[in-house]
Amino acid sequence: MKGATKAEQYEQLVSELRGLVADERDWLANLANAAALLGLRLPDLNWAGFYLLRAGRLTVGPFQGKPACVHIELSRGVCGASASRRETIVVPDVHQFPGHIACDEASQSEIVVPLVTADGRLLGVLDLDSPKLARFDEADARGLEQFGAVLTAATDWPAEIP
Ligand code: SME
Repeated sequence: MKGATKAEQYEQLVSELRGLVADERDWLANLANAAALLGLRLPDLNWAGFYLLRAGRLTVGPFQGKPACVHIELSRGVCGASASRRETIVVPDVHQFPGHIACDEASQSEIVVPLVTADGRLLGVLDLDSPKLARFDEADARGLEQFGAVLTAATDWPAEIP
């Protein structure tokens, strides 16, 4: 989509996501395909995927990129901060974020979006890393929040993620 605004690109991405999850409500299948879609469509990423809330901490879920830290406490890193505040966090320069966890030394900027169901249950976070400084802005935040909301609503979540 050359020439399209970021907002238009995210509309297209979310529409592709709707197609991917239309006939499937399994959480693992949908997260795996969603991670693949993000990795395929969004430029300048070195990691895209999910950390899921299990037993009070975040555990790595489906992703695209290099192997990453398996467990993240809610008090640690950008992922923990986003999950515990239930807020999207845009980090233009990861070296300036106190407590940033470096899983891949190529990462320069990052965005983390919390995944929360319509009835307020925190499921985990969506995390994207980039080798470019300041890769993510407000348009990415709004687009990825929409992506997360569609994915969350289209999926059946077990009472405890196994
Ligand atoms: N940088 C993240 C850790 C996860 S990796 O980026 C995949 C953080 O500080 O929470």
